[in-house]
Amino acid sequence: MSEQQNVYPVREDIAANAWADEATYQAMYQQSVDDPEGFWAEQAKRLDWIKAPTKIKSTSFARDNVDIRWFEDGQLNVAANCLDRHLEKRGDQTAIIWEGDDPSESKHISYRELYERTNQLANGLKELGVGKGDTVTLYMPMIPEAAMAMLACARIGAVHSVVFGGFSPDAVAQRVIGADSKLVITADESVRGGKQVPLKDNVDAALTREGTNVCQNVLVVKRTGGEIEWKEGRDLWFSDLVDKQSTECEPEAMGAEDPLFILYTSGSTGAPKGLKHTTGGYLTFAAMTHQYVFDYHEGEVYWCTADVGWVTGHSYIVYGPLANGATTLMFEGVPSYPTHGRLGDIVDKHNVNILYTAPTAVRALMAHGDNVMDSSKRDSLRLLGSVGEPINPEAWEWFYRVIGNEKCPIVDTWWQTETGGIMISPLPGATPLKPGSATKPFFGVQPALVDNEGNLLEGATEGNLVILDAWPGQARSIWGDHDRFVQTYFSTYDNMYFTGDGCRRDEDGYYWITGRVDDVLNVSGHRMGTAEIESSLVAHSAVAEAAVVGFPHDIKGQGIYIYVTLNDEIDPTDELKKELTQWVRKDIGPIASPDVIQWAPGLPKTRSGKIMRRILRKIAANECDGLGDTSTLADPSVVDELIEHRVNK
Ligand code: WTA
Repeated sequence: MSEQQNVYPVREDIAANAWADEATYQAMYQQSVDDPEGFWAEQAKRLDWIKAPTKIKSTSFARDNVDIRWFEDGQLNVAANCLDRHLEKRGDQTAIIWEGDDPSESKHISYRELYERTNQLANGLKELGVGKGDTVTLYMPMIPEAAMAMLACARIGAVHSVVFGGFSPDAVAQRVIGADSKLVITADESVRGGKQVPLKDNVDAALTREGTNVCQNVLVVKRTGGEIEWKEGRDLWFSDLVDKQSTECEPEAMGAEDPLFILYTSGSTGAPKGLKHTTGGYLTFAAMTHQYVFDYHEGEVYWCTADVGWVTGHSYIVYGPLANGATTLMFEGVPSYPTHGRLGDIVDKHNVNILYTAPTAVRALMAHGDNVMDSSKRDSLRLLGSVGEPINPEAWEWFYRVIGNEKCPIVDTWWQTETGGIMISPLPGATPLKPGSATKPFFGVQPALVDNEGNLLEGATEGNLVILDAWPGQARSIWGDHDRFVQTYFSTYDNMYFTGDGCRRDEDGYYWITGRVDDVLNVSGHRMGTAEIESSLVAHSAVAEAAVVGFPHDIKGQGIYIYVTLNDEIDPTDELKKELTQWVRKDIGPIASPDVIQWAPGLPKTRSGKIMRRILRKIAANECDGLGDTSTLADPSVVDELIEHRVNK
């Protein structure tokens, strides 16, 4: 069992200077659950409020009344908290270090520069008629303008919806429509690993789709100068709009519960849902978790390798670090370009102290052997972090030993788009580490394990991970569909938030996330609904039926395994497999590329016609001996057929 593995005690040098040592963690945690009102009233003071909140917590998880409000009578502005209030003390300090895809390109942007440019953009947005409550879709490369765009929206009270640059035109269209965005901000092209991605072309294609005519303007950052189409009257160059604006822009006074952003994520059913995050609670939680989990100290260089298109980028590249006056590094490229030593080279180049990345990146490097980082020393590193999927103990140990030179604690942070910020994680000065465990809950977070009937399980055990009470950073709703929010998260178990994850708790009370228990895949840390991929496939004229499951993948964590039943008279050729692969990539985006397609003359179904995914998962994982009970199948022979033609990967 994994409990027998190494335990890494807290390092004394870290504990001595940390925001929380073990005793502090215990005391603060206890207070946070005994007296959440008092605890969070105090924590809210880390922000600058236009009007300080007097009502702290008004929350209900009851399924007939899911209602979550924090600091509700307070007023503040997120951009002012991330920028204005730092000017006096650290106006000349670097806010963002930008490292380009090409290693010869980088720049430092001070808090004052970020403030001025953000204000100019905010004024530009106003000129376009964007105001409080309007939504803006961002489809951008990892360039400082992405952070500026988020902050400019926040400054004027517009709600941003960032769409990851790897998504397809259809996915962009779906999100523009879902959020009712009157403006899209993009770039001509993005550059990753030396290759150009045609963002503007994708936006053009997206905006030909029915229903996207809500979008009136497209604001385009010139990143590469690559050739693009131009629609007069609709398209504008970023610099044409922004350069001429004033560098002052009064921040809008926002209610604590006014929306800050929408972020789409995949669920087990239906189309991706736009989670709604609000202002005061979100920023309090993002800032506090960033300070404590990364033990951030003044002057340190902090680097989160996520993309701003994901929640990790929102909370831990932009909002958390900037609210804390940190120096945050933003990297445009990929860890493997131009060499596999790139991550370490960047650490040395910018003297990075804290590196927060994903298990999939660690495993990809690990596959190249211990010498992969030989071009760098990484002496500046003090702390490492992991997020997005379970980190297997082997990868944890390698991360610790090779990247961190055996001197950096690793914070394995479990959280979700829905939670807004880190929920379960070690604190570097307080928590002994066990490789593969996210360890203990953050302040104010009350995790619990339940069985399938919702009974609370005590002690060392395994079950479904739920959260028993509200925390300030959590999503408040699904944009435009509160019923779906209630249905998805609060109707499985009474009065609990259901995470969708399975989890084990050991005898020390440590949490070990075991992965999703629903039909959500986690491929290289990217969330994907099997239902989304299936509906893409069945839209192809050759496909009668499709079932998608995950299977264990050495580097990606999970790979995508697809069973396809073709229509009569269609030949199951390799050409067609390629075509279906392209089809899904085009429909959803390259991140949804199938790893395996198996032709399935029939799918295992119950007599009532329900596909038995449990069996398909086992076959994909090559665990054909342990298929369990197949007696409820309408036609058990299809299983033998599938096993016989299983595709090895
Ligand atoms: C998984 C990313 C194990 C989990 C912040 C969760 C993790 C989903 C971890 C959310 C971790 C995230 N250990 N599993 N440290 N972090 N997950 O919304 O299954 O993109 O439900 O948020 O990723 O993914 P999302």
